[in-house]
Amino acid sequence: MEINASNVSVTIDGHDVLVDETVSAIPGRTLALVGPSGCGKTTLLNVLALLRRVNAGRVQLGDQDATRWDDRRRRKFWQQHTAFVFQDYGLIDEESVAYNVALSKLPLLPHRANRMPRVEGILERVGLAGRGEDTVSTLSGGEKQRVGLARAMFRSADVIFADEPTASLDRENRRLVTDFLLQEAARGAAVVIATHDETLMALCDLRFELGHSGSRRGPIPPR
Ligand SMILES: Nc1ncnc2c1ncn2[C@@H]1O[C@H](COP(=O)(O)OP(=O)(O)OP(=O)(O)O)[C@@H](O)[C@H]1O
Ligand SMILES: [Mg+2]
Repeated sequence: MEINASNVSVTIDGHDVLVDETVSAIPGRTLALVGPSGCGKTTLLNVLALLRRVNAGRVQLGDQDATRWDDRRRRKFWQQHTAFVFQDYGLIDEESVAYNVALSKLPLLPHRANRMPRVEGILERVGLAGRGEDTVSTLSGGEKQRVGLARAMFRSADVIFADEPTASLDRENRRLVTDFLLQEAARGAAVVIATHDETLMALCDLRFELGHSGSRRGPIPPR
C-alpha cells in the first residue's frame, strides 16, 4: 500500500512545523525522514501514519483520500495494515511477553494455540527465547524495547512506522532493528523511519530531508 502526503502543512500552537511537504511511502522501500532535532520528522511520520491531522494538503492511501478519515476508519487502517516501532513501546506492563507480542491470550483460546510456535520463533529472533511467560513489568528497558520489536515482527504489516528505532540501543540491538526494517521492505512492506542514525539512513532506499529548505521556509536572505 502506497501512502502519499501531498503539500502537507502542520501548524502546532501557531508554529509552522511542516510547510508544504510532499513525500511518499512506497511498498518494498525504506524511506528515511532525516534532519536536525525539531525539524518535524516525528510530525511527518505521524502524518503518514494518520496519527496527526494536517492543516493543509492531502494524505492518500493508494487511491483513497484519507485526509479526513474519522477515528473508526483510521483505527481499521492501524489494525489491518500497520506496525509501529516507537520508543514509548506502548506495552501492557502487567501482561506476559507472549501476550504483548500477539496481543491475545495465548494459548488459552484453542484456535490461537497454533500461533504459539510463531511467537516463540520471534522471541528467539530478538534474543528473548523462553521468556514468553514473563510479565513485561519485570523486564529491563532494553528487553522491553525488544518485546516492542517482536510485536512489530509478529504483525507482518503492510506499512511499518519506526521513530528513532535505534536510539539508545547497543550495537547488537541496533543491528537487530536495522535488519528487521530492511527485511520487512524486502518482503514488500513500505517502511518509514525517522532517524538520526547515519548507518541506518545510509541503508535506506529513499531519504527525505527536512529543515534544509531555509529559503523556502524562512525569510529570503539578503544577497
Ligand atoms: N504536541 C506538540 N505541541 C507543541 N509543539 C510540538 C508538538 N509536537 C511537535 N511540536 C514541535 O514541532 C517541532 C517538530 O517536532 P518533531 O517532534 O516533529 O521534531 P523531530 O524532527 O522529530 O525532532 P527530534 O529529532 O528531536 O525527535 C518542534 O519544534 C516541536 O517543539
Ligand atoms: Mg522525533
